[in-house]
Amino acid sequence: MLLSLASLATSCTEKERSSLLQFAAELSQDGGLTNSWENSTDCCRWEGITCSSDSRTVTDVFLASKSLQGHISASLGNLTGLVCLNLSHNSLYGDLPMELLSSKSIVILDVSFNLLNGDLQELEKSTLRPLQVLNISSNFFTGHFPSPTWKAMKSLIALNASNNSFIGQIPTVFCVSAPSFAVLELSYNQFSGRIPQELGNCSMLTSLNAGHNNLSGTLPDELFSITSMEHLSLHDNQLEGTLSGISRLKNLATLNLGGNMFSGNIPSAISELKKLVTIHLDHNSMSGELPSTLSNCTSLITIDFSSNNFSGGLTKVNFSNLPNLKTIDLMLNNFSGTIPESIYSCTNLTALRLSSNKFQGPLSERIGNLKSLAFLSLVDNSLTNITSALQTLSSCRNLTTLLIGKNFKNEAMPKDDAIDGFRNLRVLFLNDCSLSGKIPLWLSKLTNLEMLLLYNNELTGSIPDWINSLNFLFHINMYNNSLTGNFQQP
Ligand SMILES: *[C@@H]1O[C@H](CO)[C@@H](O)[C@H](O)[C@H]1NC(C)=O
Ligand SMILES: *[C@@H]1O[C@H](CO)[C@@H](O)[C@H](O)[C@H]1NC(C)=O
Ligand SMILES: *[C@@H]1O[C@H](CO)[C@@H](O)[C@H](O)[C@H]1NC(C)=O
Ligand SMILES: *[C@@H]1O[C@H](CO)[C@@H](O)[C@H](O)[C@H]1NC(C)=O
Ligand SMILES: *[C@@H]1O[C@H](CO)[C@@H](O)[C@H](O)[C@H]1NC(C)=O
Ligand SMILES: *[C@@H]1O[C@H](CO)[C@@H](O)[C@H](O)[C@H]1NC(C)=O
Ligand SMILES: *[C@@H]1O[C@H](CO)[C@@H](O)[C@H](O)[C@H]1NC(C)=O
Ligand SMILES: *[C@@H]1O[C@H](CO)[C@@H](O)[C@H](O)[C@H]1NC(C)=O
Ligand SMILES: *[C@@H]1O[C@H](CO)[C@@H](O)[C@H](O)[C@H]1NC(C)=O
Ligand SMILES: *[C@@H]1O[C@H](CO)[C@@H](O)[C@H](O)[C@H]1NC(C)=O
Ligand SMILES: *[C@@H]1O[C@H](CO)[C@@H](O)[C@H](O)[C@H]1NC(C)=O
Ligand SMILES: *[C@@H]1O[C@H](CO)[C@@H](O)[C@H](O)[C@H]1NC(C)=O
Repeated sequence: MLLSLASLATSCTEKERSSLLQFAAELSQDGGLTNSWENSTDCCRWEGITCSSDSRTVTDVFLASKSLQGHISASLGNLTGLVCLNLSHNSLYGDLPMELLSSKSIVILDVSFNLLNGDLQELEKSTLRPLQVLNISSNFFTGHFPSPTWKAMKSLIALNASNNSFIGQIPTVFCVSAPSFAVLELSYNQFSGRIPQELGNCSMLTSLNAGHNNLSGTLPDELFSITSMEHLSLHDNQLEGTLSGISRLKNLATLNLGGNMFSGNIPSAISELKKLVTIHLDHNSMSGELPSTLSNCTSLITIDFSSNNFSGGLTKVNFSNLPNLKTIDLMLNNFSGTIPESIYSCTNLTALRLSSNKFQGPLSERIGNLKSLAFLSLVDNSLTNITSALQTLSSCRNLTTLLIGKNFKNEAMPKDDAIDGFRNLRVLFLNDCSLSGKIPLWLSKLTNLEMLLLYNNELTGSIPDWINSLNFLFHINMYNNSLTGNFQQP
C-alpha cells in the first residue's frame, strides 16, 4: 500500500492525463504519439511532456515536428500549470482555441508552421494573461488583428504573426499595454496603410519586421525615436520619402528597406550607425553620391544598394575602413569613374557585383588581393584591357562565377599562353565584347566549367574538339560569332 501511495504521489493528476488524452483523441493523425503514451499511466513520463518538480502538473508540452494532423483541442486549456506549448511544424488545422490564448498559465505558445486558419477571436478583456511569446507565423490566419485581445497581455515580449493573411493597419496596441514588448514580426501578410505613429510608444522594441505587405506613405518621425531598435525590415512595400531620420536609430544592426519607392540620398549622418552590419536599400529610387561617412560604419558585412539611381565616383568612400565586408552589390546604378582602389583592401569579400554602371578603365592589379572572392560581376560597364583583367583575376583562386561581358569592346581574346588559373570557375560570361581572335586553349583547363557565354563576339576559326571534354559544361552559347565546326551530340 505504501508503494502504491508513493507511486500515486509522483504521478500526474488524472485531470492532466485526461486533458492530454483528449488532445490526442481529437487528432486525426497522431504520428504514433498515443502508442508511445500508452506505455505509462504517468503522463509526466510521456514523450514530449514535462512536469513540475512535484511530478504532478504538466508544465511543458513540446510536440514540434511530430506529424500531427487535426484540430488543436481546447482541452489543453485545462492544463492549469502549462507554461510552454510548442506545436510548431505539424499539419494542425482549424482555429486556434481561445482557451490557449486566454490561459492563465501559458507563457510561451508556438503553433507556427501549421495549417491553422480563421480570424483570431476577441477575448473578454478583464483578466491578465502571462503570455510572453506568441508565434502563430506560417499559417493561414485571416482578418484584422483584434486590439482588445492584446490589452490584457501585459507581459507580451514577442509576437510573430508573419506569413499569414492578416489585413488592416499594423497593430500597435501592445506598445502601450505591454511595457517589455520587444519583437514584432508581421512580414508576408496583407497589412496596409501607413506605418502608425503609435509605434513610437514601443520604447523597448528591438526588432520590427513588416516586409512584404502593402504599407505605403513615409516613415513617421516617431519610428526614429525607438532607439532600442536593432533590426528594422520593411522591404517590399510601397513606402516613400527620404531616410533623413535613420541615423537616430543608433543601435541598428540590420536595415532592410529594399523594394520600396524611397528617394533622396543616403544621409551623411549614416556614420552614427556604428553597429550597422547589414544594409539593403536595393530597388528604390535613391540618388546622389555615396557619402564618404559610410566609411565610419565599420561593422558592415553586407551592402546592397542595387537598382537605384546613385551616381558619381566611389573614391570618396574609404573601403579600407570596412574590413568586415563580405558582400557589396551596386548593380544597376549610375556610378562612374574607376573602381576605387580601397575596395581591394576588403579581403573578406566573397561577392562583388558592380554590373550595369559606368565604371571605366583597366582593372587594378590589386583585385588579385581578394582571395575569398567567389562571385564577381562587372557586366555592362566600360572596362578595358581584358588580357590584364583575366591575368589579374586568375590569382583569385576561389572564384566560381566570373561575369565580365559587355566590356572590353573590340579587344582581342587573350592568347593561349596568357592565362593560367580559374581552376574552380563554374560560370564564365564573356558575351557582348566584340572580341576578335580564336576560342583559346586556356579555356580547356577550366575543367569545372558549367556555363560559358561567348555570344556577340567576333571570334573566328573552328570550335575545338576539347570543348566536348569539359564534362560539367551544360550551357554554352556561341551565337553571333564567325565560328565553324560542330559539337558532338551527348
Ligand atoms: C512503447 O512500447 C512499445 C512496445 O512495447 C515500444 O516499441 C516503444 O518503443 C515504446 N515507446 C516508448 C516511447 O517508450
Ligand atoms: C476541462 O475540464 C472541465 C472540468 O474538469 C471539463 O468539464 C471540461 O470538459 C474540460 N474541457 C475540455 C475542453 O476538455
Ligand atoms: C519550438 O520548437 C521549434 C523546433 O524545435 C524551435 O525551433 C522553436 O524555437 C520553438 N519555439 C519556441 C518559442 O521556443
Ligand atoms: C517563433 O517565434 C518566436 C518568437 O519570435 C521564436 O522564439 C521561435 O523560435 C519561432 N519558432 C520557430 C519554429 O521558428
Ligand atoms: C518568425 O517565424 C518565422 C517562421 O515562420 C521565422 O522564420 C522567424 O525567424 C521568426 N521571427 C523571429 C523574430 O523569431
Ligand atoms: C510560409 O508558409 C508556408 C507554409 O507553411 C511555407 O512553405 C513557406 O516557406 C513560408 N514562407 C516564409 C517566407 O516563411
Ligand atoms: C537619375 O538621376 C539623374 C540626375 O543625377 C536624373 O537626371 C535622372 O532622371 C534620374 N533617373 C531616374 C530613373 O530617376
Ligand atoms: C583609408 O583608410 C585607411 C585605413 O584607416 C588609411 O590608412 C588611409 O589613409 C585612408 N585613405 C584615405 C584616402 O583617406
Ligand atoms: C546617369 O547620370 C547622368 C549624369 O551623370 C544622367 O544624365 C543620366 O540621366 C543618368 N542615367 C540614369 C539612368 O539615371
Ligand atoms: C576558398 O573556398 C573554400 C571552399 O569554399 C574555403 O574553405 C576557403 O576558406 C576559401 N578561401 C578563402 C581564402 O576564403
Ligand atoms: C594591357 O595590360 C598589359 C599589362 O597587363 C599591357 O602589357 C598591355 O599593353 C595592355 N594593353 C593595352 C591595349 O593597353
Ligand atoms: C552580333 O555581335 C555584334 C558584336 O560583335 C553586335 O554588334 C551585333 O549587334 C550582334 N548581332 C546580333 C544579331 O545580335
